[in-house]
Amino acid sequence: MATRAQLRPDKAEPAKAADPGRDFEFTSADFARIRELIHRGAGISLSDHKRDMAYSRLARRLRARGLDSFREYLDLLESENDPAEWEAFTNALTTNLTAFFREAHHFPILAEFVARRQAPVSVWCSAASTGEEPYSIAMTLIEALGDSAARQATVLATDIDTQVLAKGEAGMYQFDQVKHLSQERLKRFFLKGTGAHAGMVKVRPEVRAMIRFQQLNLTDRDYGLRSQFDAIFCRNVMIYFDKPTQSQVLSRFEPVMKGGGLLFAGHSENFTYVTQAFRLRGQTVYELTRDGGAARAGQRGQTQPAHSSTSGVTV
Ligand SMILES: C[S@@+](CC[C@H](N)C(=O)[O-])C[C@H]1O[C@@H](n2cnc3c(N)ncnc32)[C@H](O)[C@@H]1O
Repeated sequence: MATRAQLRPDKAEPAKAADPGRDFEFTSADFARIRELIHRGAGISLSDHKRDMAYSRLARRLRARGLDSFREYLDLLESENDPAEWEAFTNALTTNLTAFFREAHHFPILAEFVARRQAPVSVWCSAASTGEEPYSIAMTLIEALGDSAARQATVLATDIDTQVLAKGEAGMYQFDQVKHLSQERLKRFFLKGTGAHAGMVKVRPEVRAMIRFQQLNLTDRDYGLRSQFDAIFCRNVMIYFDKPTQSQVLSRFEPVMKGGGLLFAGHSENFTYVTQAFRLRGQTVYELTRDGGAARAGQRGQTQPAHSSTSGVTV
């Protein structure tokens, strides 16, 4: 496809010289526009020190589109209705750091909590990134409930970033990412890669079958969720949102939470002054302050997991 530059050879302003060491000029106005757009689209507040990160990640988009300047790229993004480019723009600017059993103190709390809940238990992992967190949740449910009860349990794994969701759905990881897990967990929940997959592991199909991966933007007005959850994990994503956005997200969690449900936050996230709907229970775990969700729970359907297929990894 022809670029706007190619379509407009008479462009009033010729491309300016690139910054030293950079392929493209990157002005404060460009960065300000990027901040505005990603805030509008994903709720993410990019701080000043993310300027170099924004440059390097989006410069790839300019190259991919054959464009000469950030201004052209941002004009294109704003003027053309191009969902694929918006997706690429968003994917480029998210930070996806995660790990299996990250902030490990949450998992025994989840295990103890679900053991007391009515079946079938459902958990929503709302910033799932590349899958390590939802898989850690599913593994915890199996350990807490046993294999057969856990088969009825579901984990909804959502994220705004489609690239990380695809990785999560595949369930393949470098062995290095799981080497800190106990031998028991490794044997019970992973298959070891051989041949072309040596050095890798794959999450076992029965664990993957408990999880449904789906794109969801936490800043959307309507999440379109028809089920309620015993627990919601919303860890290390609210730090990218400003207070009004945090407050809106929390108000949308409330109706999809079953009575007595728990909300798990990241280590540096504090919702105490953002919402009255959830009360801090300790260790960055919040509980719903009212029981209203339970009444609606029976009227709604349950989230069903998709059964993912296995790939060429053998034991
Ligand atoms: C730092 S990771 C945290 C992953 C995981 N929860 C953890 O704590 O290990 C933050 C994730 O939030 C996602 N994210 C950012 N903005 C989002 C939004 N508006 N809606 C849904 N997910 C979003 C990013 O794509 C990224 O995968």
